[in-house]
Amino acid sequence: MSETQYQWYPGHMTKARRMMQENSKLVDLIIELTDARIPLSSRNPDIDTMFGNKARILVLTKADLADPVRTDRFVKQFAESGITAIPVDARTRKGIDQIRREIDKACAAKRERDRKRGIIGRPVRAMVVGIPNVGKSTFINSFAGKASAKTGNKPGVTRGKQWIRVSKELELLDTPGILWPKFEDPAVGMRLALTGAIRQELLEEQELAMRLLDYLQENYPDLLRGRYMPEGEEERWTFPLKPEMLLEMVAQSRNLVRAGGEPDQMRAAVLLLDELRSGRIGRITLE
Ligand code: G4P
Repeated sequence: MSETQYQWYPGHMTKARRMMQENSKLVDLIIELTDARIPLSSRNPDIDTMFGNKARILVLTKADLADPVRTDRFVKQFAESGITAIPVDARTRKGIDQIRREIDKACAAKRERDRKRGIIGRPVRAMVVGIPNVGKSTFINSFAGKASAKTGNKPGVTRGKQWIRVSKELELLDTPGILWPKFEDPAVGMRLALTGAIRQELLEEQELAMRLLDYLQENYPDLLRGRYMPEGEEERWTFPLKPEMLLEMVAQSRNLVRAGGEPDQMRAAVLLLDELRSGRIGRITLE
């Protein structure tokens, strides 16, 4: 996979970026959403330059799909660099109360500052930012209540500026999901494609699947065996295997064959990527 495949930046993202920058002055707090499966690769490096030292909370979304041991490790690492990171599972709402407490802390600090300047009753304004498909709508829904936010946005769909009133004390600004113009490290683009943040058709599925299989063999061999080892054939498929062979193993485990009886690598790749994204292989962190 060449690096150039990952360089793209649609016009609506330029527009969204401008909107976020313009509104930066209006907000007290940034709620930055990143994907718990790729907490580093899903952080937009532009955010730092756009918002500088503004108070920030990091929300690690889809924690139910990520490896809990690695998630704990990431939370500690972020804490060491002074960032509060909170894993969230939208299905069980786990983590939502902790975020509320963190926001309350930020609200209290702001109220105190306002009070000193003689300002009373102005709500805290927080901007919710994150890459496409990271779970912003879902998060806002579980945080602010179903009625307050739109749902069902697909990656790449532009949304207008939207303030959501959570309470007398808190307003959220929802923003469109944006990526950044260039992935310096091609592995970042690959991880974004694996989690579904980048549209799949931009990448070659078999190549992506083989990279994933290589990674799983190295990091989660038991999950890989558990789901895709053809029955009674452990000896034939002894790890370590080349990525091509691993893909063949996946094809065989599901009887995916082409007309001539050859393993159907393409269908195996599509199936594997789908099962990764839906969490069916297991809880996997990709970095
Ligand atoms: P966005 O606004 O940032 O673009 O993301 P959105 O909330 O639309 O979420 C994108 C996808 O991620 C949705 O799935 C959503 O259900 C899923 N998602 C969000 N948060 C979590 C989470 O904490 N855990 C898990 N497992 N999934 C999460 P979808 O397949 O696009 O839609 P749907 O099947 O839910 O309708």
